[in-house]
Amino acid sequence: MTADAFYIDGVRVPIGRARPDGYYAKTRADDLAVRSIRALLERNPSVPPDRIDDVVWAATAQVGDQGLTLGRSLAILAGLGKTVPGYALDRMCAGALTSIVNAANAIRVGAQDLVLAGGVEHMGGHPMGAEVDPNPRFLSDKLVDPTALVMGNTAENLHDDHPEVTRERCDEFALISQERTAKAQANGVFDTHVVPMTVFSEAGWRVVDTDEHPRPGTTLESLSGLRSPFRTGGYVTAGNAAGLNDGAGGVLLASKAAVEEYGLTPRMRLVDYTFVGVEPETMGYGPVPATDKLLDRAGLSMDDIDVIDMNEAFAVQCVAFLDHFDLPVGSDKVNPYGGAIALGHPLAFSGARLAMQVATYFERNPDAQRGITTMCIGLGMGAAALWERV
Ligand SMILES: CC(C)(COP(=O)(O)OP(=O)(O)OC[C@H]1O[C@@H](n2cnc3c(N)ncnc32)[C@H](O)[C@@H]1OP(=O)(O)O)[C@@H](O)C(=O)NCCC(=O)NCCS
Repeated sequence: MTADAFYIDGVRVPIGRARPDGYYAKTRADDLAVRSIRALLERNPSVPPDRIDDVVWAATAQVGDQGLTLGRSLAILAGLGKTVPGYALDRMCAGALTSIVNAANAIRVGAQDLVLAGGVEHMGGHPMGAEVDPNPRFLSDKLVDPTALVMGNTAENLHDDHPEVTRERCDEFALISQERTAKAQANGVFDTHVVPMTVFSEAGWRVVDTDEHPRPGTTLESLSGLRSPFRTGGYVTAGNAAGLNDGAGGVLLASKAAVEEYGLTPRMRLVDYTFVGVEPETMGYGPVPATDKLLDRAGLSMDDIDVIDMNEAFAVQCVAFLDHFDLPVGSDKVNPYGGAIALGHPLAFSGARLAMQVATYFERNPDAQRGITTMCIGLGMGAAALWERV
């Protein structure tokens, strides 16, 4: 028997483009995370900062301004007090999702009461794969296919495995992501999560307060004209893939005792989660077995789930997921507020955004009871987490 771990609140900075002229080109990664943590505490003033039991923070590139045992360094930088500990972790794209379930588990076993969990990735400062040194045995011993180490190639491989997931269906999915994101922005959905960030730029100091990546003018025609940078004649394009982005954010999780002591409002509870391994060269398929396993463990079917927030690393893996669960490409149940194709995907941060969006969906849809967050992960993994309205 475990105790409940409640989601209380979630905050993120606007997602920027990882480019020399992007929002955060001159901003440190750890400062993005500090801003999120300070905003979380400002929004929950009854929680004394030095009562936080732990800060769990993910980054894929664990070097430079993402490298100094993030959770602990963020606790100091955000002014939580030197008595607050923290740690860093990495599970690539599911970094923040792993932070969240680890934090929840500490609460579930009764070891901790208040935990901050999140992630950061400054892909401009830390380009994907640039700072790693994969063991040559991966390839010399044929442990993985050479294409497994480039995520765009794994998405092309998934097209090979699933010829029914055509380029046209992927572009349609990408367009829906852009349209839903634009609608969610107009309806203030992200206002509940996004806090403004002051940044330095060529033009001096300025405040950024909206996500930089969406392309609201996208059409099927503009998408269909794009070419694959990953394979000659391939199907994966800048339009139907997540982008290269900078971002950070996290959530406050609490035990029942902390909820009562500090008068907090629990928005949802973590019920269960799964991580699975799949073929590294088709890593995008991960959410399918992860979600199957999650539903199986809970004795639920897809009909019992009201909302799914799935990371859109690539449209092909999302459409393959929809097909597996007999859902149409435009299913209202999946990514009702759009996703990473439009918003961007700062790797280790994105799982926190998915949780925030499920919480907001519950808030805006009083009949919704259960939600799933799910993501694919490099080197062939999938993750899924089940959330329930309190
Ligand atoms: C696909 C990818 C290589 C594209 O990177 P990029 O070239 O820097 O992307 P850009 O934003 O400059 O877009 C490239 C072109 O597509 C166009 N484009 C992008 N999105 C578009 C859209 N929705 N509609 C129309 N055109 C679009 C851009 O205008 C640009 O055109 P230009 O070259 O004429 O200026 C990169 O986004 C990527 O690697 N994505 C996957 C990230 C990843 O692997 N994450 C981990 C998942 S596990």
